[in-house]
Amino acid sequence: MSRMAVPISTALPVAHRVHGFTYAIRNIVAEARKVEALGIGVRYLNIGDPIPFGFETPAHLVAAVERAMRDGHNGYTPSPGIAEAREAVANDFTHRGLVTHPDRVLLTSGTSEGIELALGAVVNDGDDVLVPTPTYPLYTAVLAKLGARPVYYRTDPDRGWLPDLDHLESLIGPRTRALVVIDPNNPTGAVYPESVRRELVAISERHQVLLLADEVYGDLAYDGPVPPLGAIAPEAPIVSFSSLSKAYLAPGWRAGWLAVGRSPRLDDVLAAIKKLADGRLCSPGPMQYAITAALNGPRDHQVAFRAALALRAELTTRRLNAIPGMRCAAPRGAFYAMPQVTLPPGRTDEDYVLGLLRATGVLCVYGSGFGADPAGGFFRVVYLAAPDELSSIYDAVADFTGRFLAAS
Ligand SMILES: Cc1ncc(COP(=O)(O)O)c(C=O)c1O
Repeated sequence: MSRMAVPISTALPVAHRVHGFTYAIRNIVAEARKVEALGIGVRYLNIGDPIPFGFETPAHLVAAVERAMRDGHNGYTPSPGIAEAREAVANDFTHRGLVTHPDRVLLTSGTSEGIELALGAVVNDGDDVLVPTPTYPLYTAVLAKLGARPVYYRTDPDRGWLPDLDHLESLIGPRTRALVVIDPNNPTGAVYPESVRRELVAISERHQVLLLADEVYGDLAYDGPVPPLGAIAPEAPIVSFSSLSKAYLAPGWRAGWLAVGRSPRLDDVLAAIKKLADGRLCSPGPMQYAITAALNGPRDHQVAFRAALALRAELTTRRLNAIPGMRCAAPRGAFYAMPQVTLPPGRTDEDYVLGLLRATGVLCVYGSGFGADPAGGFFRVVYLAAPDELSSIYDAVADFTGRFLAAS
């Protein structure tokens, strides 16, 4: 039989769903690489990782992982995670006002896997999920993969990026499966007051819609840790997600957890999540031991980290608000700000961000990468760099913005 000549340029097909899966925070790095190839140094303010900026993982967490590896804990763990860490998570919730049981806790590869497992467990093709705009983009990316529809509820920069609750409630319909709440928030730095948090829980109860509470920045509100949303109403239909990535300074470890609310209404959801989790065997094993160490051990590093972040938030807000044509709501937690530049007609947030990158090497992410209107002129700044470095970055932003607005 003669061998058929297959042109090596023929690309093998990929699935349609890949086209709907976008994650601007990483996608924009391709543009940064092109700028670097031209010999311009890039200052990466696109990704929320404290480690490259000199913040260090607490030593007792590193020791816990080291010890686990040396003690031979290098095999698969049970798929929901090791018992002692699940217990530490359940105790931590209990101390924060939400009594729960280790059976309702699962260890995950970061908050990200928790989000993907929960959405996979409750959302069908064609269903709706309420997502804030702007949003952390993993939600919309996973929904695209599942063939589900993100329905955006507004959050308002003029009110510290708080959600518009009337708008949110008006969007709930028969196909609404879940409501995503990110508090403290990425990409806006908002921290919701108690009244808003209560109302969000009440809406989920009124409409029997599962509330997905992304609490990965819960310990990084500048006024002190925010209790879990479920503490407001322990029987409410809430799944909470968090990890060691941000408040425990270990994003690369992929050590996270989720906790399913204790209401029996959620028993099927819990079983579905566990079933899906069985398929991925377990989250990284040695890092699960660091969860125990983190939640049972000292948290002094968080005091210093919050203070460092609050200082940078103040600097960021002051410097950006001083730029003509720009305004920035003050972040109250996490390490993100979402300033707005008044765009000339016909220009987009991407034009501004790519222009800034090419002219100055400063890499931010355009607001439309988080679901904002491209004409709105929003972009996200990660302010983890040292204050001096941030100051010099904001000099460059001011200089470029002046030229961009004058030329348009
Ligand atoms: C709101 C939000 N949720 C989830 C994640 C993912 O975190 P993890 O590293 O725990 O997967 C991030 C990371 O930036 C985030 O900002």
